[in-house]
Amino acid sequence: MVKVERVRGTRDFLPTEMKKRREMERIMREVAIKWGYEEVQTPTFEHAELFTLKSGEEILKEMYEFVDKGGRHLALRPELTAPVIRMFVNELKMARKPLRFFYFGNCFRYEEPQRARYREFWQFGAEIIGADSPEAQAEIIALAHEILNALHIKGSIEIGHVGILRDFLAKLSEESGVSLNEDEKNKIMRLIDKGAKEQIEEFMRAKGFKEDAIADLFGMVSLRGEDALKEAREMLRSGDGENGENSRGLDKLRELEAVAELLSEGYGTPFTLNLGIARGLDYYTGLVFEIYAEAEKLGAQRQICGGGSYRIAHLFGGEDTPSTGFAFGFDRLSEIFPFEAPSDLKVVVVPVLRKADAGLRRDLQIAALKTARILRSHFVTLTDVLGRNLSAQLAYADAIGASFAVIIGERELKEGRITLRNLHTGEQESVSVEKCVRKIKESAAKMGG
Ligand code: HAM
Repeated sequence: MVKVERVRGTRDFLPTEMKKRREMERIMREVAIKWGYEEVQTPTFEHAELFTLKSGEEILKEMYEFVDKGGRHLALRPELTAPVIRMFVNELKMARKPLRFFYFGNCFRYEEPQRARYREFWQFGAEIIGADSPEAQAEIIALAHEILNALHIKGSIEIGHVGILRDFLAKLSEESGVSLNEDEKNKIMRLIDKGAKEQIEEFMRAKGFKEDAIADLFGMVSLRGEDALKEAREMLRSGDGENGENSRGLDKLRELEAVAELLSEGYGTPFTLNLGIARGLDYYTGLVFEIYAEAEKLGAQRQICGGGSYRIAHLFGGEDTPSTGFAFGFDRLSEIFPFEAPSDLKVVVVPVLRKADAGLRRDLQIAALKTARILRSHFVTLTDVLGRNLSAQLAYADAIGASFAVIIGERELKEGRITLRNLHTGEQESVSVEKCVRKIKESAAKMGG
């Protein structure tokens, strides 16, 4: 017999896991909504070119792409930023900006599955469309932080600026007399993102960079913490003599400085500057940030969030539109989200069908269904679907963790009452349906449910 397995890199979510995920989703949505973000949803698949236009080689290699029956080259979305901007260009070009959107959806990447890295995973993200000011950047980072806080997850926020790195690279290229095309610059950025030092060295040497220049680039990407801005300023200015103030990258440093101030003074959001943050996607133009979980549990996949400022609307037929956003790796968060599923109070309505003649059986079943209809407006209520006898139904009630059985036999039917049995204590009493509702509510309150 053939056993059909789950596709590699995908997961099934059983009820307990789903309760946790729904609770996380609820908390994250609630925060985003409070900050004035509105939820949007885009299709699961798009024209592949939406992503090939700018997302970066990493993602292209990892895309689930295919040709459909109509000959269209499509891709399952590897992320949601490009789709959301496409939606903006298609539907909302004239809308008043900035637009604040959030989304929650599955993404697909054909990568090597490992702990916390899947081929189907979920992102919860937010985008401000129409702004990449320090104010927009600080808001996006502070929102991400607040979402983490609401989830009681600790993470460290690291902020960099790809504009500074790119400008510095341009300065080094000029000094070394090397010219790099867009692809080559992107390649170096991606290698920085991966921390692939040797490959950077190899590539830059081959391009003709001087050893000093390579060392300077490593110096820049290793800048961290409080002094990072000061040191970066010196590195950007060095060799520019008196005109240092006009050096490239300095305006971007000032932008980063402004974001840092808004975060510390305005939002009270803790962060670390890290000029080595380069991101794996090519569309970023300005500030970039990543959040790393403190929990050990995620192993090598500690990056729970990534984002920054970017411009892609013009690639999809829109005007050049600065935007800023982030996406959380929802599955990584779910691995470390502290959660204990609340036990739902369940009630099982049990008609006593044994020995009953056909007409009575039917009456009992109808009475059970009617009673369940009343109970359902107060509690999670189930009824038998297998025509089982009393003890089998009670055993099932026990197995699913029900707290109460509402038993309806011939006598109860005649008297218009039910027998309420507390399945934890075994106590039972004959009461009206109304009283039964009250009684269950009272005991639930006592049990803390
Ligand atoms: P990203 O860094 O590629 O950015 O993905 C965001 C987050 O998704 C990552 O930080 C990680 O937690 C999670 N993630 C990525 N790949 C996987 C995977 N295979 N399995 C599990 N989790 C994964 C973006 O996608 C950008 N669109 C973020 C953004 C929004 N930038 C601006 N706006």
